[in-house]
Amino acid sequence: MLRTSVLRLLGRTGASRLSLLEDFGPRYYSSGSLSAGDDACDVRAYFTTPIFYVNAAPHIGHLYSALLADALCRHRRLRGPSTAATRFSTGTDEHGLKIQQAAATAGLAPTELCDRVSEQFQQLFQEAGISWTKEENYIFRLSQFRKPLQRWLRGNPQAITPEPFHHVVLQWLDEELPDLSVSRRSSHLHWGIPVPGDDSQTIYVWLDALVNYLTVIGYPNAEFKSWWPATSHIIGKDILKFHAIYWPAFLLGAGMSPPQRICVHSHWTVCGQKMSKSLGNVVDPRTCLNRYTVDGFRYFLLRQGVPNWDCDYYDEKVVKLLNSELADALGGLLNRCTAKRINPSETYPAFCTTCFPSEPGLVGPSVRAQAEDYALVSAVATLPKQVADHYDNFRIYKALEAVSSCVRQTNGFVQRHAPWKLNWESPVDAPWLGTVLHVALECLRVFGTLLQPVTPSLADKLLSRLGVSASERSLGELYFLPRFYGHPCPFEGRRLGPETGLLFPRLDQSRTWLVKAHRT
Ligand code: MSP
Repeated sequence: MLRTSVLRLLGRTGASRLSLLEDFGPRYYSSGSLSAGDDACDVRAYFTTPIFYVNAAPHIGHLYSALLADALCRHRRLRGPSTAATRFSTGTDEHGLKIQQAAATAGLAPTELCDRVSEQFQQLFQEAGISWTKEENYIFRLSQFRKPLQRWLRGNPQAITPEPFHHVVLQWLDEELPDLSVSRRSSHLHWGIPVPGDDSQTIYVWLDALVNYLTVIGYPNAEFKSWWPATSHIIGKDILKFHAIYWPAFLLGAGMSPPQRICVHSHWTVCGQKMSKSLGNVVDPRTCLNRYTVDGFRYFLLRQGVPNWDCDYYDEKVVKLLNSELADALGGLLNRCTAKRINPSETYPAFCTTCFPSEPGLVGPSVRAQAEDYALVSAVATLPKQVADHYDNFRIYKALEAVSSCVRQTNGFVQRHAPWKLNWESPVDAPWLGTVLHVALECLRVFGTLLQPVTPSLADKLLSRLGVSASERSLGELYFLPRFYGHPCPFEGRRLGPETGLLFPRLDQSRTWLVKAHRT
């Protein structure tokens, strides 16, 4: 039964189904790498999103699921020369369409609808004394997997992240697990895959759906083994039980290992309410991508989405965040350090080691760096590692928070030394002026490199403006401020890129009509 799947995986069904995903990145990655220090068992990484129901238009919650997986995958790909591989899969779930439509009308999940309606029947028939109500199904002995699942989770405290979800699953496993019916009568459910050798039964939608994670990597051919179990499933909290109990149990039952990691996120609400068609408050992600730009909206969702808690969406929040962090802080910083009036030669200026000696606390006539400047250098120097740790722990929002805090610190540095008050013509000012700009551009180079998984086009624009070539954009190439550490800097004296346009144009508050309209 594990072989069959009705999934029409996005990667296989052609472009027409990909219009949303094309906006935020590729759906299959076949290359990627790790830095030399990573464990050999970590060499391959396979990230999955749930396969999405197609019974209603996608909303920002679906987009968020997919973005998290996409950014994790992209960050992994940044980690160095391409010896190892990273893979990403996403798709649509087209099983049990009629049931899904009925469920959507009733505001229920399809399985909930099946379970509820069938339970009502059972109760009614029981009360009416009717015994023929029993249905024969194929049963999966889920009850036998309680202990193996407990052992798996206790032995792998990182298997489900964030931790509260790991805890919840262990709590579920404190109770006996009921056996699970994994088929339905075909007369009852004909939209689906027949049980091999018994077409009176249709395979249960979740068994069928979960198997997509294997078929997409070639199962049952042996090639799937190079990707399994090095897998991270990125899922919403509503489908935790299916992924953290049923799926690992099915795998154990088939003699296979559970996935390496299940990364769980909470939900997006709109103005404090659950998003639903009937409330008319569904936020259309395509309108948002259009309105806030692809990179702007990617940044918003990943910066504001916190896996542990539900997050509330409203348009003013997007405008405020993007204006303050992308337009003003990041864009303003780039503009300040590259504008012709402050950097007339339009090059990456030289760093002066006597103005900014590597040892803090030195005094001398040409020493200009202050304690806060050393704090900035140390914060930005440790940022890539900090960001990588956050990605590894499925805290992309924290990674972005750390980048944003360093951007603020760099703006503080520029503000403190006010390079616009220094004079290139003065032999006293010039080395320090160059140093201030050099440090700020180095910080920007780090920010641009680290932002690539979240805002690929904006990062490209930023790095191109700094004159950073495509081969200098991986984490392996990211040597921050080498002159400070006594090494040559390949950027010193290099011409800045020609593109001088705004990095991220400020948004107008009037763009907030979208959700306001729903509030009234
Ligand atoms: N088809 C199943 C998954 C099968 S995977 C083997 C399914 N599809 S879904 O379209 O209903 O949901 C897909 C993803 O979107 C899930 O991770 C779900 O949690 C997520 N979201 C649905 N609504 C959401 C929000 N309001 N906010 C964030 N994500 C939410 O379940």
